[in-house]
Amino acid sequence: MESVLPNHQIWVALSQRIVQSFLFTRLRKEVFMSNQIGFEYSNEGGETAFETFLRYSNEKDKSSEVLGRILNRLLVEEGMTVLDIGSGNGEYLRLSLIKAKIPRKTMLTLLEPSKDLAERLIVATKQFPDGSIAKVIHSTPEDFVTEDRFDVILISHVPLAKNQADKLPAIYRKILGLLKPRGSLIIVLRGKDDIHEFRTVFKSQLMGINYRSMTIDDAVETLSFLAKSVPLNISMHTAKAELHVPYCDNIRDAISIVEFFLNKRWDEIPNNIREAIMSYIRQKNGVLKHIDCFAVARKTNPFMSAP
Ligand SMILES: C[S@@+](CC[C@H](N)C(=O)[O-])C[C@H]1O[C@@H](n2cnc3c(N)ncnc32)[C@H](O)[C@@H]1O
Repeated sequence: MESVLPNHQIWVALSQRIVQSFLFTRLRKEVFMSNQIGFEYSNEGGETAFETFLRYSNEKDKSSEVLGRILNRLLVEEGMTVLDIGSGNGEYLRLSLIKAKIPRKTMLTLLEPSKDLAERLIVATKQFPDGSIAKVIHSTPEDFVTEDRFDVILISHVPLAKNQADKLPAIYRKILGLLKPRGSLIIVLRGKDDIHEFRTVFKSQLMGINYRSMTIDDAVETLSFLAKSVPLNISMHTAKAELHVPYCDNIRDAISIVEFFLNKRWDEIPNNIREAIMSYIRQKNGVLKHIDCFAVARKTNPFMSAP
């Protein structure tokens, strides 16, 4: 790979300064953001629970093939703009952009509310495709204010509405407003796979309610509802993958993965539920199937004002 463009370095350096200034001068806001995002995205030495999960799954490899094809169709000119909400450590977008073979000067705005992941993201952008220009913003979507409008907005596996489906229309409506007139919103969420089942069963037990983890069906239903007022062309894609939980070889990592799915520390989980969790994983020989689903909603009326 060629060396990274000077422009790219400038943006990374600038973003580092933005993050540092957040880290050192806005500690109170930091605590506020951490509370909003769940401990599974915070680092307690080593890696976040989300990153432990990534090491045992081929989800990002498989899913980035599909996202790469989608981006390849959408990013067709130099200078197009992408907003990625909840970028994580940036690995998924990096893989997808490489597979998409994007045009030069594609401008990437990467929004990440976890301090630990925002730091990783800045490092990861150095490995983004040559000619792309990445800017990391350490912020929640609620606090993100911009006059920019984007060609593509990506939201992949981000618990935006915290599984409260009734909050989705307002959130998606606001995000659609950040798109250019012919822009596209890409939402990546699970289908009804093993991880959806795992979360639904054990979060229900932990919370004592009928918990239902959000799936792509909720996103598509919401987008179809919004399409009545904002003309949208919605298309669907899927990618299948597997997670191998190391319940025999590395119980510590297996527990981190469970904590990531349930957003609950292991020592806070009652014994009977812990046993049921391990028995569920053993029954599946540690293999949980993923179905990553993509809803691509493209604005179709260039004369429509932002919703
Ligand atoms: C499962 S990770 C997905 C990361 C990346 N998009 C991917 O698909 O690999 C979820 C990400 O969303 C971020 N996140 C959590 N809650 C969020 C919220 N309310 N708004 C925006 N991002 C959020 C987390 O910090 C984390 O980076």
